[in-house]
Amino acid sequence: MSEELSPGVDPGSPDLFPDGDYRFHLTLRRGDPRAFFAPQDPTGRVLAERARWLASEPHRYAALMPEGEPLVREFGAMVASWKLGASTGGRMPLAHARGHELLFTLGRSLEPDILLLSPDREGVIWLRGGALCFPTGWALEEKMGRSMEVIHGVVPGLNAALGPAIQQVLSKLKPGVAFLRDNWGLAATDELNLHPARAVPPPAAPVALDRLWLRVEHQALVALPQAAGLVFGIRIALHRLDRIAGTAAAAGLRRGLATMPAEVAAYKRLDGIRARVIELL
Ligand code: HEM
Repeated sequence: MSEELSPGVDPGSPDLFPDGDYRFHLTLRRGDPRAFFAPQDPTGRVLAERARWLASEPHRYAALMPEGEPLVREFGAMVASWKLGASTGGRMPLAHARGHELLFTLGRSLEPDILLLSPDREGVIWLRGGALCFPTGWALEEKMGRSMEVIHGVVPGLNAALGPAIQQVLSKLKPGVAFLRDNWGLAATDELNLHPARAVPPPAAPVALDRLWLRVEHQALVALPQAAGLVFGIRIALHRLDRIAGTAAAAGLRRGLATMPAEVAAYKRLDGIRARVIELL
């Protein structure tokens, strides 16, 4: 896999490392849904890898509950209306395809991962399905059919800081807009697929900047108004740390690492290396 995926995305963007000490934030930018999901990898390697994971272990990398059927249909129709056809290898979603078939087609045709969510009668938002080939250390099968609060429950302090705000934002997405945000972490590999079953080791001492990657999750929230739900897209970008040393991104990363609460650093598997990374950057 290439060392600099999505080279057009600037890791020095102030949105990734906002001014100030580390904190969970809910800053959303407005974007174009088509632009987020449109192909960005001219080599075709991302789609080839997605197809490989989806074929080798379909139940691990894709899942759909009955409540997800209308969501995948609406998202499939939305993608078809974007006419990305030729650039996605012509694998366009078929209007008549069954939900699972449509989900797999979308999972193989789009570079970002996709997760489908909708509220219950009380307004609580649940994960109803998705095609997730490049998770950052989590398993779709464990999160399926769970609420946002339960899904985020493992992230220390997140529900307390932002739980109600996240619920509010997800319930009130304006149609036709992609609401964009980013998460970052460090990985000791440029592998895209960090499913827990692969047991990819966390960053560890001794630290070398050319063996560590800034792993950015570019995320998009897009309303599915007919089905009263939403799609959550995640696109991974990797930046090898020796290549960003000395840049604005490195300054933001140093500050983020230095001010991150210990329990968050432990959750992000950074506690063993963060002091040394700060020294080296
Ligand atoms: C505005 C909305 C959201 C915000 C602010 C948010 C925020 C976060 C943050 C800060 C983390 C910790 C990641 C890290 O720092 O490394 C996280 C993890 C995660 N989020 Fe979200 N999130 C949002 C929406 C969603 C949605 C819609 C899903 C859909 C399934 C989701 C699924 C997850 C999962 C699976 C994790 C990893 C949990 C684990 O490690 O098991 N998030 N989120």
